[in-house]
Amino acid sequence: MAELNKVHSPVAMTPEYKKMVMQLLESQGVREFMAANIFSDALKFIPTLRLKEFLAKQVVEELEHYEATLRLYRDLGGDLEAVVAEKVKQYGGVPYVKSWFELAVCQFLYDRAGEFHLAEYRQCSYVPYAKIVGKILAEEEEHESFGERVMVEACRTPEYRRQVQQLFNKWLSFSLTSFGRPGTAGNRFAIAAGLKTRDSGEVMQAFINDIKPGMAKCGLAFPSDLGVETPVNLDLSLSAAA
Ligand SMILES: [Fe+2]
Ligand SMILES: [Fe+2]
Repeated sequence: MAELNKVHSPVAMTPEYKKMVMQLLESQGVREFMAANIFSDALKFIPTLRLKEFLAKQVVEELEHYEATLRLYRDLGGDLEAVVAEKVKQYGGVPYVKSWFELAVCQFLYDRAGEFHLAEYRQCSYVPYAKIVGKILAEEEEHESFGERVMVEACRTPEYRRQVQQLFNKWLSFSLTSFGRPGTAGNRFAIAAGLKTRDSGEVMQAFINDIKPGMAKCGLAFPSDLGVETPVNLDLSLSAAA
């Protein structure tokens, strides 16, 4: 039954389906573009050659992810670079990081949010998109674990932990924004069309659950105000992760 719903080429799309795929690619394009820019700008904060090379490799990967989204969008007749430029302007520009710690927090949260978005499309009904997602996911997991290692090390020092907590609050809110509002008509359509499997609220909860063990290792807490609309029963308890 599921196989019957697969879409192999843009010509087989309804206008509504095509619009939704374009929206998904636009938000992924913005995330990849921002990640490439943030990481490359942050090279200046990295102290050693080895770690600089490591981060430079991640920049190239983000650019490859971006290129993949541009190609898929072009197949649908659009120019994603122009769309991304406009959207980034609306966000007030790329939120560049100001320290190595902030880069680590950005990777821990923002890359991981990107991973949770993408994981939804691993089996998505638009086959050309599903095909590229697997490769990107493996690389995103590597990026976020790099961030976690740096955070855990920094948080051994109480003064640094306070700084990391502030950065964590800022990037958590920004990362949660990327999930979009829960329970919308767009969510329902994307699920019914086989483009994703869960509502944004459920994906947000899965993301929250995934950051809890890293938070526990660092001694971080959730801020009292997440700064975004969340599902009513969002579980922020940390006891099980400790
Ligand atoms: Fe990426
Ligand atoms: Fe990444």
